[in-house]
Amino acid sequence: MSKISEMSKKYNLHSWSAQGKLNPMTVTKAEGIYFWDDEGNKYFDMSSQLVNSNLGHGNRAIIEAIKAQAEKMAFVGPGYAIDVRSEAARKLVEFAGPHFEGGKVFFTNAGAEANENAIKFAKAFTGRWKIFSMYRSYHGATFGASALNGEPRRWIAEPGVPGFIHFDGPYAYRAPKACKFNSEEDVTAFYLDLLENQIQYEDPKAIAAIFVETVVGSNGVLIPPKGYLKGVGELCARHGILLVCDEVMAGFYRTGSKFAFMQFDVRPDIVTFAKGSTCGYVPLGGVIVKKEIAAHFDDRKMFNGLTYSAHPIGCAAAVATLDEYERLGIEENVRKQGKLLADTLDAIEKKHKCVGEVRHIGLFAMIEFVKDKASREPLAPFNGDPEGRIARICAMLKAEGFVTYSHENMIIVAPPLTITDGELKDALGILDRVLDSADAL
Ligand SMILES: Cc1ncc(COP(=O)(O)O)c(C=O)c1O
Repeated sequence: MSKISEMSKKYNLHSWSAQGKLNPMTVTKAEGIYFWDDEGNKYFDMSSQLVNSNLGHGNRAIIEAIKAQAEKMAFVGPGYAIDVRSEAARKLVEFAGPHFEGGKVFFTNAGAEANENAIKFAKAFTGRWKIFSMYRSYHGATFGASALNGEPRRWIAEPGVPGFIHFDGPYAYRAPKACKFNSEEDVTAFYLDLLENQIQYEDPKAIAAIFVETVVGSNGVLIPPKGYLKGVGELCARHGILLVCDEVMAGFYRTGSKFAFMQFDVRPDIVTFAKGSTCGYVPLGGVIVKKEIAAHFDDRKMFNGLTYSAHPIGCAAAVATLDEYERLGIEENVRKQGKLLADTLDAIEKKHKCVGEVRHIGLFAMIEFVKDKASREPLAPFNGDPEGRIARICAMLKAEGFVTYSHENMIIVAPPLTITDGELKDALGILDRVLDSADAL
């Protein structure tokens, strides 16, 4: 272990891990879709770090914007108007499309804080106190965001904030055994019925908001079936409930459109964002609210605030990042490389006996591993990997230069959106070869 890794192990607490087993890789350089360790080994960054490095590493325009802003004015409190603060907000409201015309942005430092503040906006606007979110979801690690989480990363914060209710979102591959779906529409109808019942049981007039990850990210890249999100939107409208789309991971072209909700015929009242807004060059997140919610605070006090809300360097980075998405033709590249990724992963699903299902949209994909294709028994059970099989797959991939992360019995495939045809083919070639060995696990 390098000296740097040793020191990191000694002094840093690393996220979501038993610290004793860790062997943090020393990274010495990152460029484009690659990074290097201290022994000079080069890796494909196949998860865009934490699915946030959408423009890859070393983007000069973002770096220069950060440098220039640091020179000009590194900080001034959020109550002051400054050029990049106004411009970042204007660009983001526009980015969210015509439905958000007249809307406004509240900036935060990251995704969890964005969701925290969205919860507060929804409660303040509706005067209600219950919040719905999916079991298969991750919304952040602060206390309120943890209460939103459906998955085990919520448990540590329990008993949490009262009024947070979880529901089952669509997951056809692992639907209850009695379900016999003949079409996507069947899947949609089943899960909308479940949600509608739950809304009734919880008193629709008590529910402030339903939070959805527009495309569920780390919990499986679960792509909503046709009509599902539209149906959720209709349920919300019928009962005066706000729909919040968490686009922290799915936003900024990851799924092929500016925000993912744009592909699903749905009009959220609030969008939360973070990661791809600056691609991690500096931390930034935020909440975009529609016109009516923004206007609600015209003559009522808004009880939201952060010392670093709309930090000048974060805003400067966001302005440059949004320009870079355009200049680099990212939407078109995601369309092109997304097709290559989809075709290759579909072939991988057919070929490998350890692969139960692949799911993909844009450059956002998940491979779900099974012990047996027919029974669909997962290669690792819920909330664990006791036999270490998923960890072994990740280690084999890493040894061949393909780095990504896993969740339960799945690994994510989500390279930077700048990836070229040749780079993607090379990386997926590694994946295919490693899965030959994984089939024997
Ligand atoms: C969908 C989603 N929402 C919220 C968050 C939390 O964001 P952050 O870690 O920036 O607080 C994440 C992080 O992975 C996420 O994937």
